[in-house]
Amino acid sequence: MKGPKTVYTCTECDYQSPKWLGKCPSCGAWNSFTEETYAEKRTAPGASAVAADKAEPFRDMAVPEYMRSSTGIEEFDRVLGGGLVVGSAILVAGEPGIGKSTLLMQLCGKMGDGHTIMYVSGEESRAQLKMRATRLGVDPEKLFVQNEVFLDSILKEYERISPEILIIDSIQTLYSSAAASAPGSVTQVRECTSALIARIKVDGASLIIVGHVNKEGGIAGPKVLEHMVDAVISFEGDRSSSNRIVRAVKNRFGSTNEIGVFEMTGHGLECVSNPSEMLLEGRPEGVSGSCAACILEGTRPIIAEIQALVTPTVFPSPRRTADGIDYNRMCLLLAVIEKRLGLRFSTCDVYMNVVGGMRIDDPAADSAIVLALISSLKDVPVPHDLIAMGEIGLAGELRSVASAEQRINEASRLGFSTIALPKKQIKGKKAGSSELVGMNGIYDAVALLAKSQKKKEKSTERQDVTNE
Ligand code: TYD
Ligand code: MG
Repeated sequence: MKGPKTVYTCTECDYQSPKWLGKCPSCGAWNSFTEETYAEKRTAPGASAVAADKAEPFRDMAVPEYMRSSTGIEEFDRVLGGGLVVGSAILVAGEPGIGKSTLLMQLCGKMGDGHTIMYVSGEESRAQLKMRATRLGVDPEKLFVQNEVFLDSILKEYERISPEILIIDSIQTLYSSAAASAPGSVTQVRECTSALIARIKVDGASLIIVGHVNKEGGIAGPKVLEHMVDAVISFEGDRSSSNRIVRAVKNRFGSTNEIGVFEMTGHGLECVSNPSEMLLEGRPEGVSGSCAACILEGTRPIIAEIQALVTPTVFPSPRRTADGIDYNRMCLLLAVIEKRLGLRFSTCDVYMNVVGGMRIDDPAADSAIVLALISSLKDVPVPHDLIAMGEIGLAGELRSVASAEQRINEASRLGFSTIALPKKQIKGKKAGSSELVGMNGIYDAVALLAKSQKKKEKSTERQDVTNE
């Protein structure tokens, strides 16, 4: 008689093999195979609870309205697209210690009086949860906490309490008897998530799952986890600074462009409604290699500082690092500068950084990146009150930016007296007391720098005269 079959599964990508392998042939991960019992026939857990679905004429269907409840945390609502959708499953992902549990406890504090919430923690004891809640100054009336990792016990308590919101902290600690492998393995994560989702969809409760992030920054466990949930909310920014940026990587009920900005304080995460001020705080004056850029995150313009450091290299092939900017975008812009302006970066190391843990994808930041690079190479500071926007093409031309008006308003609100943008886009725009400067291409950006250098030289000359 044959015993149960064994299969080896890669914990990184879900690849299955009949034999143990040291290296995964699919994703290349080392030592990632775990032994699991192979289930011949798979029925989705909870499938029996849902009646078989009948095909329905699409036209006759009523347009559903998502029932949203505000989480009471403004920035979190913004990322979710307006609030927590009833009957949805959300994955909150991020590095350890970034503030996932803190944010969810704050959510409990805001929602726990009006809604029944069940908070299942497989990581912290009840006492630890209580201590955190006290520190955050929250004491929700209808919050229930459970210290459990066994899925069946969680579902039992879920039935008893029948909460409107179920929080699982974290999915990697859960264990289901339906799968034989260890907690945190692909099979367990998949099994537990699908069981939980199937269960909450029946009652129309909301599910919030905390997911850990692996070394590479991806969500630990299989990619399927991301496919199973309705929204994936990811924490960005580094733990060493107090800024936390929360972004929707996927959202079936809203846009994925919006970001939420928080600051970690002594009593939890605080919403930052004017991120530009926070990101520009402590910006150095009169130093080369720094330029302000205005990017659009969803509907909100945000001003961030881009820094570049260009130094002679001691290596045969120069070093280039980019933090917060796409590495390939930086290399492309370097190539454009070399080709169109004849400035040589090939003998220089280049380090780029966006201050405050922001990640910039908006091509409108190109001109600020280029200005920061040239400014550092020539050691000429970009004027402190200048902000540049515009996408740069391969020919060195400046392309229009989207929602220019909004960006101009934000820049002039923050007191930038010179706003450089594509020439075409200046027409008919007002910027309060700020001056709008049109640029056709990368050449004009250099001209701006040269002008500022001349001004500086003049003022030092004047100083010298007065000193004499
Ligand atoms: P936590 O929410 O436990 O992180 P995660 O669940 O993502 O692993 O956050 C822990 C960090 O946040 C910890 O380093 C301490 C810090 N913290 C504060 O600075 N202020 C606070 O009020 C709280 C509760 C935590
Ligand atoms: Mg935690």
